[in-house]
Amino acid sequence: MRTQVGIIGAGPAGLLLSHLLHLEGVDSVVLESRSREYVERRVRAGVCEQPTVELLREVGLADRLDREGLPHHGFSLRFDREDHRIALTDLTGGSITVYGQQEIVKDLIAARLAAGGDIRFGVTGAAVHDVETDRPRIAFDGGELECDVVAGCDGFHGTSRGTVPAGVLKTFDHVYPFAWLGLLAKAEPSHEELIYTNHERGFALHSMRSPEVTRLYLQVDPGERIEDWSDNRIWDELHHRLATDDGFELREGPVIEKSITPMRGFVAEPMRHGRLFLAGDAAHIVPPTGAKGMNLAVADVLVLSRALSALLHKGRTDLVESYSDTCLRRVWRAEHFSNHMTTMLHRASDVDDYQHRLQLSQLRYTATSTAAATSLAENYVGLPF
Ligand code: FAD
Ligand code: DHB
Repeated sequence: MRTQVGIIGAGPAGLLLSHLLHLEGVDSVVLESRSREYVERRVRAGVCEQPTVELLREVGLADRLDREGLPHHGFSLRFDREDHRIALTDLTGGSITVYGQQEIVKDLIAARLAAGGDIRFGVTGAAVHDVETDRPRIAFDGGELECDVVAGCDGFHGTSRGTVPAGVLKTFDHVYPFAWLGLLAKAEPSHEELIYTNHERGFALHSMRSPEVTRLYLQVDPGERIEDWSDNRIWDELHHRLATDDGFELREGPVIEKSITPMRGFVAEPMRHGRLFLAGDAAHIVPPTGAKGMNLAVADVLVLSRALSALLHKGRTDLVESYSDTCLRRVWRAEHFSNHMTTMLHRASDVDDYQHRLQLSQLRYTATSTAAATSLAENYVGLPF
């Protein structure tokens, strides 16, 4: 089997890359280890930056997003049992859209298949070879894909990053002393907007997926097991952390899904080795506070699709050579922003009262200074691609 771009991974990065390449007249094949049902049901991100939404519109992928996505013009920082609204649109002119990552994945798969795209699900044993030549290959159980270029879009635990020889990649790894317990519940959201809460027992986040489905997160210790968190225990903790002096009421409902995710910051540099290009979580992870992960994956593959089109149509190498540097500038901005949001909102068990007072001072400054709120808002809404 042969194609121009062999893509490993059918997450947002791999699927969108395949779509963008198709629009540029470049062929690709996507190899995904899981089933279609699995990737379409995996509950993850929910916040799309403005540049992400604009791109999806431009490339014909936003029909359902525009119908079902929830545009948000602000969110709340909640601390000292009180809300402080960050008016995203008033401050920046921009907005974000709440639309589940798995919905984007469904839309992408449908669009690729409708256009005759080649996505192979359930492909195990993928291994990348010969990326230092002009004819790289992806071997997998039962077959092989020859290509001009390999795109490693296989997420943080994928195989492609590991095929870069030792000494080529420099990795930056920061493990945060927190994890997020995520809960999806069939309950009407308790507030029209997202609420990021700093509470003495730890961070909590109120988000949503639709007018009928609420998404909630709780900071827990990284060693916690989901089996030890009964639904009642989760709701009790959420009620406690989200309580306000003006009587906020958290609506409960049947739990659809719950899981615990550790938090880390990770970057691998450079994002290219020979004809292997890493994109999305395969190259970098951010802590989720601030909702940047999927949006970074989208930004990477936009840059990559243009670079690969120039290479494969015109033999131009400048854009593939600058691919890594171009992406890493945005990646490090997002790492910094996510770190800032995380440290401002979470409670580390070894943090002293001094640190806690600093957090509250930062939160009050952000809530009351137009300059500070605007800086937060422009990062949150998303800097232009
Ligand atoms: P993935 O989505 O991980 O896709 C990689 C794909 O490769 C998967 O389908 C996987 O099955 C496949 N694969 C792996 N190994 C192989 C292999 N060997 N062979 C073949 N296929 C393979 N981001 C945001 O922007 N906004 C948010 O609000 C947000 N919230 C989040 C909340 C949580 C709780 C979590 C966990 C993440 C959140 N993120 C958020 C991050 C976001 O989900 C990721 O950054 C995003 O999924 C990255 O997309 P990707 O395509 O690079 O990787
Ligand atoms: C969601 C996830 C995030 O990481 C975030 O910062 C905001 C919302 C969500 O899943 O809804």
